[in-house]
Amino acid sequence: MTSPHGLEGRVAIVTGASRGIGLAVAEALVGAGARVCVTARDPDGAARAAEALGGVGLAGSVADADHLREVTELTLREFGRIDVVVNNAATNEPYGPLMDVDPGSWSDAFAVNVEAPLRLVQHAWRVWMAEHGGAVVNVCTEGAGHVGPHVGAYGTSKAALLHLTRQLAGELAPKVRVNSVSPGLVRTEMARFVWEGAEEVLAAGLPLGRIGEPRDIARAVVWLASDAAEWITGADLLVDGGTRVRTAYASPGYAVHDRLRSQAPPHP
Ligand SMILES: NC(=O)c1ccc[n+]([C@@H]2O[C@H](COP(=O)([O-])OP(=O)(O)OC[C@H]3O[C@@H](n4cnc5c(N)ncnc54)[C@H](OP(=O)(O)O)[C@@H]3O)[C@@H](O)[C@H]2O)c1
Repeated sequence: MTSPHGLEGRVAIVTGASRGIGLAVAEALVGAGARVCVTARDPDGAARAAEALGGVGLAGSVADADHLREVTELTLREFGRIDVVVNNAATNEPYGPLMDVDPGSWSDAFAVNVEAPLRLVQHAWRVWMAEHGGAVVNVCTEGAGHVGPHVGAYGTSKAALLHLTRQLAGELAPKVRVNSVSPGLVRTEMARFVWEGAEEVLAAGLPLGRIGEPRDIARAVVWLASDAAEWITGADLLVDGGTRVRTAYASPGYAVHDRLRSQAPPHP
């Protein structure tokens, strides 16, 4: 390690890294000196990202337990170690009031957003981290701190991920640090229906004057994964442009919720 923020010689797994926040995280990890294994469901997306990053990639859904085992095995086979796990892949479906939600799709949300992070950490712990140590960063959401229209399944599953983060932090210490980053609204595909066509009004309600970019989140993830955060575990780092403190800054209305109310994709 040549700098306290560097990750030279380290190896990281980043799920959901073909675009958006996951890709930015993988790029930032490589920029800090790490080698990466990236995943996505779309094989072309996973392969493109792996090639661009000089790493390896594996296509598959994090909801598939075998895929997560294969990701761990591939990373160990290719690089010989697993120092960092970033649980980034997620779904924000099903949308809609919870009374209308199909319990099957509710379980799918939990399989992707909660179960998968636990399974991947279990694999990494068993094959490497229990003996050698490491760092886990789970990507949660600022929205898990309150309730919002049409996003009950997402918010509930991410709140569970937040709790899982703290539970694992306690259980895996001192070998492995487990933290989370909770983004506010970020310019990615997942949130396109919220920000597209409404950036001015959204930015006006945010103390820091703009919506987030994937690199804003990536910097926080890399910092938490690095030795610069060596005495931090069980923490959630809000990276939200001041979303949580907005009521001291702007009018009490919340443009993100207005957009979720009016623009949420179709639901039953
Ligand atoms: N954007 C925001 O405003 C925002 C705010 C708060 C939190 N977040 C969180 O940030 C994280 C990244 O979201 P994003 O906004 O960057 O989304 P995004 O742009 O839609 O990217 C999602 C990435 O995950 C992959 N993916 C999706 N489902 C997957 C699955 N089941 N298994 C494996 N890979 C999967 C996608 O590729 P494939 O489609 O090919 O699988 C893609 O690479 C998520 O945890 C999200 O909840 C985002």
